[in-house]
Amino acid sequence: MRMGKPNHISSSEITPRDVYLNRRKFLAAAAVAGAAAFAGIDELVRPASLARADEKIGGVTKSPFSANEKITPVNSVTHYNNYYEFSTEKEGPAELAKNFRTRPWTVTIDGAVEKKQVLDVDTIIKFAAPEERIYRHRCVEGWSIVVPWVGFSLNELVKRAQPLGKAKFVEFTTIYDVKQMPGQRRNVLDWPYVEGLRMDEAMHPLALLCFGMYGEVLPNQDGAPLRIVLPWKYGFKSAKAIVRIHFTEHQPLNTWNKAAPSEYGFYSNVNPNVDHPRWSQKTERRLGEFFKRPTLMFNGYDQVASLYAGMDLKKNF
Ligand code: MTE
Repeated sequence: MRMGKPNHISSSEITPRDVYLNRRKFLAAAAVAGAAAFAGIDELVRPASLARADEKIGGVTKSPFSANEKITPVNSVTHYNNYYEFSTEKEGPAELAKNFRTRPWTVTIDGAVEKKQVLDVDTIIKFAAPEERIYRHRCVEGWSIVVPWVGFSLNELVKRAQPLGKAKFVEFTTIYDVKQMPGQRRNVLDWPYVEGLRMDEAMHPLALLCFGMYGEVLPNQDGAPLRIVLPWKYGFKSAKAIVRIHFTEHQPLNTWNKAAPSEYGFYSNVNPNVDHPRWSQKTERRLGEFFKRPTLMFNGYDQVASLYAGMDLKKNF
């Protein structure tokens, strides 16, 4: 099922280590100081749940946003991954992420919000009823999958954080943990992995806060314990293993844009009319299929088109 060497790799950059260490110190301090007011103290002392991959998630309802398409076999979705913190090889993360610890896990909500908080992931996943969302997922490299993710709209969390009027963007940061993530020992990307959305994109009901797939807890290699899934954007926007959600006035500098600005933009909407500088984006191959199929504008999610009305999508790629 290999599709050749990943092209999706940057010129390396030297990691400014002190920046990370300071950020980590801040996160650790924030975690210690973390209050329970966001959801009530009892939420934080409840036993951790959904900590194990392959554990079934109860009470999952079907979503009207689901695509009516053939679902990609789970084995492909769990053994063909982009997760550079573990490996730049697609087959690497399944094995290398096997023992990654996803509990205890906190997410820092900070920046331009009323409710700055450090939240336990098991508190977050109870914010709303879990839904199954069958989404097309298109990687910038030209392969695609159809996955029954489990989660709920990201806006459920954003609303609870109560963003201030000046919050125009949301920045997502992945965990930085060199001990557990061997890929972070290499400077293939500037760690930790950062992604960002405009506030209206984050509020769009299609934007999914995700903690499961195929009815079960998210496998580590697919982003446990918490990731986002943005089906109208190229896969790299869908950050895995999130530890910080930061609200800001300024457009975040996302990792791939920083690594190769002429190749990966901020918006990264699926767009067959804008080629990657090194390859066409007109077609894609579903994992497990032989023939390519045409790639659709916004990956077929036309309901997001109004978010970009009047924007030059060739410039804002
Ligand atoms: N998130 C982190 N933290 N690190 C990564 O390397 N890769 C991205 C995205 N999220 C990546 C990440 C890319 S390029 C893709 S295509 C998707 O995750 C792949 O998600 P999947 O492995 O669950 O299919």
